Amino acid sequence: ATYKIGYLVGSLASNSINRVLAQALMKVAPDDLEFTEIPIRDLPLYSSDYDSDYPPAGRALKDAIEASDGILIVSPEYNRSIPGGLKNAIDWGSRPWGTNSFARKPTGIIGASPGGIGTAVMQSSMRGVLSFLDAPQLNAPEAYIRFDPDAYGPNGEVKDEATEAFLRHYMDEYGAFVERVLSVGPGHIGDDH
Ligand code: FNR
Repeated sequence: ATYKIGYLVGSLASNSINRVLAQALMKVAPDDLEFTEIPIRDLPLYSSDYDSDYPPAGRALKDAIEASDGILIVSPEYNRSIPGGLKNAIDWGSRPWGTNSFARKPTGIIGASPGGIGTAVMQSSMRGVLSFLDAPQLNAPEAYIRFDPDAYGPNGEVKDEATEAFLRHYMDEYGAFVERVLSVGPGHIGDDH
């Protein structure tokens, strides 16, 4: 089977290291994963005023999440938390109430920063948000990437062997996780509580 993976890049920067990481992850991912970016840049700031008449950008985001078999979040850490633009997108996807698009979507969280914390605090915060939204998450391996610019080419070519092996292992495990969650089928996860 082929799995459709929608990925969100949490940075809007033109020189984003997380966009490079996303490209690297796609290059090393198993062949049965098919990637589509879910753009977050053009979303207005969410307000519940929109719930009665969701604008096209919000509708498109929800449609893209719902059309995905799995979600991959590749994001920087801002001030020890989730970048505002990404949190805004998640808020859009979670509403209107009762139509949370993230429910039961197998999700992976990964991110890069220049420093040693490697987005660990953002990821921890993101896990709380996605748990509330009932999105099953790949728990292990964790991937806190301290971005080494020498290890990547401009389009995400991975030049360092150990980095390549680490990212490949992450994506193998992510793919297996998506398959595992989907094999349970809709309407089963969580039905016992
Ligand atoms: C940062 N940066 C940062 N890094 C980190 O490891 N922990 C943090 O809490 C923060 N906080 C933070 C806040 C803001 C507003 C900015 C702009 C930056 C640094 C950040 O990791 C670095 O700029 C990365 O290059 C951002 O990722 P992208 O945009 O290159 O993908």
